[in-house]
Amino acid sequence: MSSKEPLVLNENPGKVYYCMCGKSKNKPYCDASHEGTGCKPYELVVESPSEVRICTCGMTSNPPFCDGTHHHC
Ligand code: FES
Repeated sequence: MSSKEPLVLNENPGKVYYCMCGKSKNKPYCDASHEGTGCKPYELVVESPSEVRICTCGMTSNPPFCDGTHHHC
């Protein structure tokens, strides 16, 4: 059993930006700290209230989302 379980978020309809550069002070969300790095946030368009599972183990093959890999960490 891993200690790196995914972060489970309940997102409301609209656009959500997740940090992909690792510099945000408001992880998992982008706070524009990526500016000048060449990295861009992941944009998610939420159509209806949704549960989102964000990877925290760093092993996912589908960042920023959990793909269950942490079960094998
Ligand atoms: S702060 Fe990391 S992608 Fe925007």
